[in-house]
Amino acid sequence: MINKIQKLINKKNKSKIVSLSTYSKNMSSIIDNYCDLVLVGDSLGSVLYNFKSTRSVTLDMMIEHSKSVKMGIKKSLFVVDMPFKTYRNSKEALKNAKKIMSNTKCDAVKLEGGKKIINIIKNLIKNKIPVMGHLGILPQSHIGKFKYKGKNLIERNRILNDAKLLESAGVFSIVLECIETKLAKEITNTIKIPTIGIGASEYCDGQILVLDDLLGLNPINARFVKKYSNLKKVINKAVSNFTKDVKKKKFPKKKHSY
Ligand code: KIV
Repeated sequence: MINKIQKLINKKNKSKIVSLSTYSKNMSSIIDNYCDLVLVGDSLGSVLYNFKSTRSVTLDMMIEHSKSVKMGIKKSLFVVDMPFKTYRNSKEALKNAKKIMSNTKCDAVKLEGGKKIINIIKNLIKNKIPVMGHLGILPQSHIGKFKYKGKNLIERNRILNDAKLLESAGVFSIVLECIETKLAKEITNTIKIPTIGIGASEYCDGQILVLDDLLGLNPINARFVKKYSNLKKVINKAVSNFTKDVKKKKFPKKKHSY
């Protein structure tokens, strides 16, 4: 039987890949019906915990949120981010990746970086841990305001070369975060594995967003986010109606009581 990873790879040049980053069961059980790939991203640090960067996210936080997300997944490929300082060398990376895989039952892990971590990635793959790459803006290494990548030739060549290195190391897909359009297109056309873009143009093989961003739950104003809903408004309305009902003694009614 063809496995979930091969199924994802086979989508390249055939059908666009739909991916979302989320952190809990209630959300994953909904998005699983639509997604090819569900990620528990370390973006949870800023989205849920108000951390200034993803660097404060711990392995335990990733594992606990991933266990919750896993409960809602029936069919999607399930990927978990390895957080900052959990893959500084091959030994540390393998120990932590095994811990993530065994505790969360995910299908793969995602690591940020190219050439600098290529031997670490090769060692994971040699040890049968499927790996997704991540190039462009690397939030774990980035301090300060996010700007897009690929502005000059040196940077473009480095990112393209990193993509080729990751492919030959055996990663099954690469997230391209905030990469200039022509470069994202060139990478996508050069490598045989799928690219999943976030702020990296329509030319990627698939797209990923943080679910809370597209639902309008997270106050983010990044150019790459399209808000498909204003759930904040919906929740405000529901809670305000509940408040009115309680104050006016309209809730609970007999049918809500024992
Ligand atoms: O942390 C995350 O959610 C991510 C995606 C946005 C790609 O890495």
